[in-house]
Amino acid sequence: MLHAARRLIAPSARSDVPPFMVMDVMAAAARIEARGGKVIHMEVGQPAAPAPATAVAAAQAALASGRLGYTESLGIPPLRARIARHYRESYGIAIDPARVVVTTGSSAGFILAFLALFEAGDRVAVALPGYPPYRHILAALGCEPVAIETTQATRWAITPDMLLAAHRKKSLNGVLIASPANPTGTMMTAPALRELIEAAEGEGIAFISDEIYHGLDYAFPAETAARHSDSALIINSFSKYFCMTGWRVGWMVVPEPLVRPIERLQGNLAVSVPTLSQIAAAAAFDGRAEMEAVKHGYEENRRILLDGLPPAGIDKILPVDGAFYLYAEVSRFCDDSFEFAKRMLEETHVAATPGVDFDPVHGRQFIRFCYAGAAAEMREAVERIGAWLKR
Ligand SMILES: Cc1ncc(COP(=O)(O)O)c(C=O)c1O
Repeated sequence: MLHAARRLIAPSARSDVPPFMVMDVMAAAARIEARGGKVIHMEVGQPAAPAPATAVAAAQAALASGRLGYTESLGIPPLRARIARHYRESYGIAIDPARVVVTTGSSAGFILAFLALFEAGDRVAVALPGYPPYRHILAALGCEPVAIETTQATRWAITPDMLLAAHRKKSLNGVLIASPANPTGTMMTAPALRELIEAAEGEGIAFISDEIYHGLDYAFPAETAARHSDSALIINSFSKYFCMTGWRVGWMVVPEPLVRPIERLQGNLAVSVPTLSQIAAAAAFDGRAEMEAVKHGYEENRRILLDGLPPAGIDKILPVDGAFYLYAEVSRFCDDSFEFAKRMLEETHVAATPGVDFDPVHGRQFIRFCYAGAAAEMREAVERIGAWLKR
């Protein structure tokens, strides 16, 4: 009986996805805080600022009005229209609102996109270092993530040559890129993005562009894949620029033939995206002035770290183009950045993420700092780290 029950509840192989090592860092930080220590949190990739006041006010009004029912599976029409308008205003391109799909954060967008584009067994290229859930969601859905190692030589991006070489080895069905990227904070230039899209689509490789960090660009303007192809699938979110991580709302711009399949998938998987979050998201676009002020704060934080970390000895830093991440090599201090992050947390109370979460191959040489907090905290972090490394 016990044996039978054990067999019944055996977790599936597909659920065996790796956990985040950063969770260990967070748990250690929580223990320090429980003892009364003051931890500077640079490990979690989320804004410290709240959602725009316009979004909060719209949500409050909707709550006060009473009933919140299901919505259309593709999202409420005013939000889809507002997102399409955003492409005209921000990039100068026309997007048909019919191609806009509202999702439960970009995380649900990945599931919908992968299900709509790929069969089980399909092979999808992703960059290393990269956001781990790309690989883990693909694997959980029975697809094969194909990691392409990027280096300084290609500005930490997949190039057409790298993509085509992998494709020739064994045929690829898709490629997913992010610009600005997590954990590196690096961006692809507009020509680099266009050339990669052309190379992929020339070989029938579906192109997915994670544009969740758009709006948070410092080095040069982030380019949308939507400008270069109607066949590319764009994934975005209100989590980062709009500071709405917990609202769980995002969007996709999808190729026209995928609209109806994704509508059917979302209808079955989730019915619809939380109504309150959709109403708030539509109003978030009116809060851009507030969000630009938050972005200026990140720019200031970026400057503090770029001025302060190299004199402290952390001077091998990837181009800090966008998002709110700084990815640095720390191998001169330690041959395992997980140990480095642990010791830094214990001895300076600054929490950062070891690179191994993002790159099982070279991640143990790198560490990621998130600079979405307050400027005073960044100054304090630089001081603490400087004093620690000079000991
Ligand atoms: C590159 C990237 N894509 C997607 C996500 C998921 O964000 P959300 O589901 O909140 O939209 C994150 C979160 O950190 C991320 O860094």
